[in-house]
Amino acid sequence: MRPIGVFDSGVGGLSVLQALQTELPHERFVYLADNGHAPYGEKSDVYVLERSLRITQHLIDHHHIKALVVACNTATAAAIHAIRAQHPQLPVVGVEPAIKPALNFTQTRRIGVMATRGTVNSHKFKLLVAQHQDQAQYVVCACNGLALAIEQSTHVEMAKDADATIDSLLDRYLNELGDFGSKSGQIDTLVLGCTHYVFVTDRLRERLGSEVQILSTGEAVARQTARLLQQHHELQVPQAQPSNSARVALYTTGDVGSLQLAAARWLNLPASSCHRADASVT
Ligand code: DGL
Repeated sequence: MRPIGVFDSGVGGLSVLQALQTELPHERFVYLADNGHAPYGEKSDVYVLERSLRITQHLIDHHHIKALVVACNTATAAAIHAIRAQHPQLPVVGVEPAIKPALNFTQTRRIGVMATRGTVNSHKFKLLVAQHQDQAQYVVCACNGLALAIEQSTHVEMAKDADATIDSLLDRYLNELGDFGSKSGQIDTLVLGCTHYVFVTDRLRERLGSEVQILSTGEAVARQTARLLQQHHELQVPQAQPSNSARVALYTTGDVGSLQLAAARWLNLPASSCHRADASVT
């Protein structure tokens, strides 16, 4: 049974993996966290492109994946065209900020977007916003440092400082975005344009209250992956459902201990699911 490959610059894509596991309970997954090269959002396009192509090739050669989910907005913006061009037979799904779905939620027609600098500056993102900005006003914030702090919060020695950094960055960026609420002129819908940010949804909710919709893309990506597998006749037929730990193998180009902490915290997976990636990709 060939697995579905999933990758991100680090632990953020685990939020997409959660949704994939729920949507596709009979599939196997191999996840590569490129922690050794994170964060992508503050690196050049060329760097992110090169890493994304190398990881894709690695997942094909070493894990014989039948499909790929690019669980990173930054990598999708920089590399999805090139991945598809290099691997035309491979079903590939990317993630992009929920700019269009947000229109179904907003009443005030004012939508906040948090994403990495790489995503915000990308041609793909600018085009996406331009296509919908006649229907709502998008207020966009490049949240430098936030993905990195979320990465560090899974690192035993850095966790305490990282938690304090997350709090102060959230205060700063929400303040920069402006006034939130359901009254005219206020932002009533917040798009999380980075898969890492899903893991601070509770802290955002504490700050924004219950009136503001917070949108992420994991479920939509999982549904799209299921559709694509079906089209390619690659959907796994239901059989005795294996346990989560038998279905998922996680690899990192960085610190295995941090990945183990994140896997236990967010996916309830045992430490034995986590491994150091092969040297060919580190
Ligand atoms: N989680 C990634 C994203 O969705 C990248 C974060 C980063 O490495 O900067 O954009």
